[in-house]
Amino acid sequence: MTIQLRLGVNIDHVATIRNARGGGHPDPVEAAKLAEKAGADGITAHLREDRRHISDGDIDRLMSSLKVPLNLEMAATEEMLDIALRHKPHAACIVPEKREERTTEGGLDAAGGMDHLAPYVKALADAGIRVSLFIEPERRQLEAAKSLGAPVVELHTGAYCDATGEERELQFRRIADAVQVTGELGLECHAGHGLTFDTVGPVAALDNVRELNIGHFLIGEAIFSGLDSAIKRMRSLMDQARSEQSA
Ligand code: PXP
Repeated sequence: MTIQLRLGVNIDHVATIRNARGGGHPDPVEAAKLAEKAGADGITAHLREDRRHISDGDIDRLMSSLKVPLNLEMAATEEMLDIALRHKPHAACIVPEKREERTTEGGLDAAGGMDHLAPYVKALADAGIRVSLFIEPERRQLEAAKSLGAPVVELHTGAYCDATGEERELQFRRIADAVQVTGELGLECHAGHGLTFDTVGPVAALDNVRELNIGHFLIGEAIFSGLDSAIKRMRSLMDQARSEQSA
């Protein structure tokens, strides 16, 4: 039986463009509503410590206006935990965060950071928030996520998307192997980072992957074809890859 694959649309970079000039345009919340209409199964937003894109006010408005679930990406800090517990989004994805990085570089070191992460995973889960950990596709990270009691992992697809030729094949194998391990461990498997029309198919075809979170490419592509069309095309490439895999 083929498991349904959800598309989470990350709207951070609508806020990046807004913030380049201040003011309110383009509004990431309006983009989220458009994404819902275009078929997004969820909206993802990363409230960073430095608020470089999504703001606290965006999270307030997303929580009050979305019909689909919000997946809040957050660092494991007291400040972010307070915000998550106040809003109680459907899901929270714990990500590593370095102030100077351009985007989330690499996954969370769940294996090396168990003592730090454990109270965050517990507090979020106790509040009824579905917790996921954004990790590299490595067995030791998956086993750490399992020990921490996180029900979901999101596998970082950045190295696969950035690579070409044989290296991309190698990186894809790491993801495929990790997806299999999630099945063994009973973890729900998501994936994301850097996915494009060209790279989404093989990942979407991996049985057991339940959700893809995609942002930067879709927002960039929206400049050329519109957000509605970019999301619909991504959705259809995902569905096509999934149906070919099950045929
Ligand atoms: N998943 C996680 C955990 C992320 O941190 C990001 C980037 O914010 C994404 C998915 C989406 O990555 P991209 O914007 O490259 O599609």
